[in-house]
Amino acid sequence: MGSEPPEPAVRLCFVCLGNICRSPTAEAVMVHLVREAGLEDHVEIDSAGTAAYHVGDPPDHRATAEARRRGIAMVSRGRQFQRGDFELFDLVLAMDQWNHSDLTDLASSPDQKAKVHLLREWDPAARGVHDLDVPDPYYGGPDGFADVFDMVERSCRNLLAQLVARHGLPAAGS
Ligand code: 4NP
Repeated sequence: MGSEPPEPAVRLCFVCLGNICRSPTAEAVMVHLVREAGLEDHVEIDSAGTAAYHVGDPPDHRATAEARRRGIAMVSRGRQFQRGDFELFDLVLAMDQWNHSDLTDLASSPDQKAKVHLLREWDPAARGVHDLDVPDPYYGGPDGFADVFDMVERSCRNLLAQLVARHGLPAAGS
């Protein structure tokens, strides 16, 4: 009836390999930015992994420590991206070229393939850069997690600004 909440204008799914480092960081950063902008009813956000290694697991403690240091909570649990997710999301944002290629292989139509992008296509610091990967920090040191956070934050801020413009979403405070 009339009391149903509005359909979100945009549905985003961030995807990496394990869904415990990069994509849950992107999910948490975007949730934070969307809340800050008062756009919770307009933008739906999720994350997933192409692999099933960490289904049900909390995010990696090094990722949560980096996010906490920046004032952001990470609360998601690992899940594997499913074929059906292509129907649930408008943009499927891969962290690296391997995730991108796994996702386009899984897609079953040109429309689904067209939903798959690299998150860093929106990184303002990556203009003209050939390598648009958010590097996998899992086997590296803590600097890798700080670098991931920086890349993800820049990209998410720019992506949200473009979505606001493209979909005519209300500006904060209006
Ligand atoms: P993520 O990092 O894809 O950013 O979540 C990884 C997490 C786990 C593994 C690889 C990458 N793993 O091999 O278990």
